[in-house]
Amino acid sequence: MAGIYEIIAKKRDGGVLTPQEISFFVKGVTDGSILDYQVSALLMAIFLRGLHKGEMVELTEAMLRSGETIDLSGIEGPKIDKHSTGGVGDKVSFIVAPWAAACGVKVPMLSGRSLGHTGGTLDKLESLPGTRVFLSSEEFKRTLSDAGLVICGQTDNLVPADRRLYALRDATATVNSLPLIVSSIMSKKLALGTDGIVLDVKTGSGAFLPELERSRALCEALVEVGHSSGRPTLGLITQMDQPLGSSVGNALEMVESVEALRGNFAQDLYEVCQAIAAAILVAGKRVSSFDQAKPLLDEALGSGRALERFRRMVELQGGNPRALDDLSLFPRSGESCVVKARQSGYIAAVDAFSVGMATIDLGAGRVRKEDGVDPGAGILLRRKVGEYVEAGEGWAELFASSRGRLEQAETRMVQSLRISPEPVKLSPRVLETVDSLGVRSWEKI
Ligand code: URA
Repeated sequence: MAGIYEIIAKKRDGGVLTPQEISFFVKGVTDGSILDYQVSALLMAIFLRGLHKGEMVELTEAMLRSGETIDLSGIEGPKIDKHSTGGVGDKVSFIVAPWAAACGVKVPMLSGRSLGHTGGTLDKLESLPGTRVFLSSEEFKRTLSDAGLVICGQTDNLVPADRRLYALRDATATVNSLPLIVSSIMSKKLALGTDGIVLDVKTGSGAFLPELERSRALCEALVEVGHSSGRPTLGLITQMDQPLGSSVGNALEMVESVEALRGNFAQDLYEVCQAIAAAILVAGKRVSSFDQAKPLLDEALGSGRALERFRRMVELQGGNPRALDDLSLFPRSGESCVVKARQSGYIAAVDAFSVGMATIDLGAGRVRKEDGVDPGAGILLRRKVGEYVEAGEGWAELFASSRGRLEQAETRMVQSLRISPEPVKLSPRVLETVDSLGVRSWEKI
């Protein structure tokens, strides 16, 4: 069989790699026998030439085989993983996982930390006093079995090839390659032994891939690889042009999530959470259509059972459940300021990317992996797109640990706002679904 030199040359010239060549490459990435500059060269060749569907599936499965997998077969009931490609104010996991669990579908989630303008589920969960986000595999299974959901970080033994590949992609401008993104995400999803996967692929300025065509292509490829690897996968494409809900920042988003589980949602957050929770029930075969899911979801929320599932998870992960009754127990940074509108009119845009960057200025996000985050920093949005503001009215409130951090963030917030003299038509938050039958507009579902 060809060595790494020939494999790099083949992909450089647009060739199609065989399963054996892909396995050889991933094995060499994992055991260190292929050197950084050779791995990087092949990553760049893949970035420029792409991968065919079959190569993408082989790469995903070879990466999956590079480490251990988590067997959930001993846990009763349907188990569905939910994954988001990340966004600004994206607290959907904390709401939909207990919501679906209260309807009989178990939701195990291995999540990540914030990086760049997007927030991280683990940072948010840790802002809940006492909560542990790294669990042994026994604790993971016990929490899932008992609470019906578990949200924690992944161990070093899961898909080790991805860690080395991702670090090299980060250093060689090859992160934004569709086949490399797909194999990275799906290898980690497949390593968790669920019955299906629901994907929330974000689109718009605050998304990983802002353009709808690219978000759709990513969603289609993720769904295709899931199905080809024997794991039913359902994707939703949702808007991330303005922050989701009314808060951005770790503890602030946890507070909003608890409010949502009490039934108090911002409209856009409700729309997205209801669709994703319904998709989890469809994927878990609790219902056969999105419409059938709605009465089940209404009952689970209205009866308080969704909040109870979340409380149980918090207890089992060492968090203080009293914080769910007394929201003042969540941290809040000491310095604050109000951002005022400079003219009257209807809010036409609050740019999600700029708000995400303002959150970093405030200390709630991180630029480098090594940075820490301030759990109490962030942004409350008093007004959202479509609402009217008077000149001089405060439309957002910023929180940070020092006044210096507020200034740069305030400038970005002012720049993120667009005001229109005319009323603004609100666009749907859920755009499309993608499954094995293809792409469908959400409005026609
Ligand atoms: N998330 C991942 O896990 N991997 C990527 O490559 C991109 C987003």
